[in-house]
Amino acid sequence: MKIADLPVPESAKEIIIKSGIAELYPPQEEAIKAGALEGRNLVLASPTASGKTLVAELCALKHVLEKGGKIIYLTPLRALASEKFEDFKKYTTIAKKDGRRIRIGISTGDFDSTDPWLERYDIIIMTNEKSDSLLRHRAKWMDEISMVIADEVHLLNDAERGPTLEVVLARLMQVNPDVQILALSATINNVDEIAAWLKAEYVTTDWRPVTLKEGVFLHDEIQYKDGDSRKIEKKTSDSAVNLVLSTIRSGGQTLVFASTRKNAVTLAKKFAGEVEEVLSKPSKRSLEHEAQRILATGERTRISESLAELVKRGAAFHHAGLGGGHRKIIEDSFRQGKIKVLTATPTLAFGVNLPARMVVVQDYRRYEAGYGYYPISVLEYKQMAGRAGRPKYDKTGEAILIAKTPDEADYLLESYILARPERIWSRLAVERIMRSHVLATIAADFAHTEQGLYEFFGRTFYAHQYDTDAIKGLIAKILKYLYDEEMIEVPGDEINATKLGKRVSELYIDPASAVIIRESLERKPVCLTELSLLHMIAHTPDMGPVLRPYSQEIDETAMFMEEHKAEFLADLPNEWEDTVAYEQFLGEVKTAMTLQAWIDEMSEDQIIERFRVQPGDLYRTIENTKWLLHATHELAVLLGNKQAIPQALGLEARVAKGVKKELLPLVRLEGVGRVRGRIIYNAGYKTIEDIKHVALDELTNLPLIGPRLAKKIKEQVGGFVKKETWEKLETEDQWKQTALTEY
Ligand SMILES: Nc1ncnc2c1ncn2[C@@H]1O[C@H](COP(=O)(O)OP(=O)(O)OP(=O)(O)O)[C@@H](O)[C@H]1O
Ligand SMILES: [Mg+2]
Repeated sequence: MKIADLPVPESAKEIIIKSGIAELYPPQEEAIKAGALEGRNLVLASPTASGKTLVAELCALKHVLEKGGKIIYLTPLRALASEKFEDFKKYTTIAKKDGRRIRIGISTGDFDSTDPWLERYDIIIMTNEKSDSLLRHRAKWMDEISMVIADEVHLLNDAERGPTLEVVLARLMQVNPDVQILALSATINNVDEIAAWLKAEYVTTDWRPVTLKEGVFLHDEIQYKDGDSRKIEKKTSDSAVNLVLSTIRSGGQTLVFASTRKNAVTLAKKFAGEVEEVLSKPSKRSLEHEAQRILATGERTRISESLAELVKRGAAFHHAGLGGGHRKIIEDSFRQGKIKVLTATPTLAFGVNLPARMVVVQDYRRYEAGYGYYPISVLEYKQMAGRAGRPKYDKTGEAILIAKTPDEADYLLESYILARPERIWSRLAVERIMRSHVLATIAADFAHTEQGLYEFFGRTFYAHQYDTDAIKGLIAKILKYLYDEEMIEVPGDEINATKLGKRVSELYIDPASAVIIRESLERKPVCLTELSLLHMIAHTPDMGPVLRPYSQEIDETAMFMEEHKAEFLADLPNEWEDTVAYEQFLGEVKTAMTLQAWIDEMSEDQIIERFRVQPGDLYRTIENTKWLLHATHELAVLLGNKQAIPQALGLEARVAKGVKKELLPLVRLEGVGRVRGRIIYNAGYKTIEDIKHVALDELTNLPLIGPRLAKKIKEQVGGFVKKETWEKLETEDQWKQTALTEY
């Protein structure tokens, strides 16, 4: 089937054809035949790289241009959202019936907002979480959504992301029963079940445009699924390194999946040492340039420094702890063939298009505290494998698992390569997860009676797979909890959210976190310090895993805890009666100590060394603390807690920047972070007023401040820079210019 023959507006087809696509792939053709362009609901389940996005693009464009509808495109991850945004951007030149151009938006950030500006967009790409939070805020424009594209819908099976996705889809169907749904999925066993839930047709295929050879690597040989085998030169004693080097020799790039952020970084370091040796001179030069860009972008941190160091040597890592700017540089330079090997956590396993001729799955097991090691699912393996051999970049692809013994090789072949992906199951019925969805359903006016709740949750995938009765007991239990905690009121048959309940739902925090925050704020301790609030935050379930002390740190942490006993807003557990709670508490205290060091301006290197914390964990902790302090401030306002309001607000700003209070005015300036802020302050320029009066060259005389940044600082405070001064300075000092936005 030719693109030119499709019943889609010419303007859209032109752009697709111009992008180099003239004919549909077979799975795309089947989707069209199943009625996707006629407004029918459809689940398209087909292999990785089979072009599911184009079906979404065609449907979306037709929908906007012919019906004037509004569309959201849901993705599970930010990295994927930005890739899809780039895919859709090419259509912004098309004019709609009303003469205006199609507008494409993206929204993945701040969960406590209605983003009214999104109203103007026709197609909005967002993460499932963002969509959930917008529905909780009852953003008005969300009622106008007439089509939803749910990408990677098999992630319904994911314990964290799945429930959000199913609740979002159930709500959108409730808000607009006529909403058109297009769900894109990997090949799974029970597509029919998802389709029945969404009242959709379904199409399944096994077709892939580029051959993907899957195999197991043992000693020095790859054994492929089809019986073929291939020897790999044994340059080093490390299997993964040998695979990477052999791919480079054949002119390709490798993507290596690691199980954790830490492993991804360690592996990248290992590869860099070897890859460096085989790089050409021009290659090294362009990598040097990329490394400089990394240092000059966003915050300069331990992560960015080590990333830049690796990029110079042809390797890089990719994980959720990277800032958006850095992520983009890494993805782009991998796409351009500059970086030869990229290590990644499984967050890169879904949907993205990268030129990986070979994917290596380094580790088929994951570790979870409390459970130990468990093997990943076939579905997840297939997703990782599917990043290899993408049509735009390679003619064939290889996905390799590494085995240490012949037995393990057999196991991997049987259990992953030859295995079929499993059925997917709803993960909704977990108390911790249901708690916030039950509250949100009431608070955002999706249901106001117990019956209404059963009806709403009766629309979820969970209810479709099991039945509503299975979830009733859990809902009743949660209602009692929410009532006891004064988040809902029950006048007669009705259930309404209290002011507190409504705000908690909008703040996108677990009601249990809100309870901890409220009770802590009501305690009025002997002395309320920064430590009190930092510990309180670490004590909430939304903080995620705390930073646990190493065995040598335990005594010191326990002593600190004893000394600061009066400041904690929770009771200290007894070490002998409840060991688990005690150890958890110690972890919370260590987390608070680390955060305290951060806002006392201890350098990152020192924090990492002193607390033996991974940079990635430090950033996650800081990010979560910022968000929970925002929630604390909002709750303090609501509860009229006069003492906590300014404290939480000030602390939020300090945690965001990692500075002492005196530096706050300075770090509000763009390009000034904790390091430069301290330099400027110590030089005697302590306020914005001081900066207004300082001469430009006095600023540039300070370390780490080049003329451009100095100019930018002056301009931000409303200062005027004379042309001659500027020209003189610009030529004088070149080297300081590298980093414009720092630290
Ligand atoms: N008909 C076509 N002809 C040529 N190239 C195509 C065609 N359709 C899609 N492509 C290209 O194929 C690549 C893979 O497409 P896409 O990302 O949509 O795959 P997918 O099915 O969503 O895979 P995944 O399951 O990994 O997300 C893209 O680079 C896309 O531009
Ligand atoms: Mg896709």
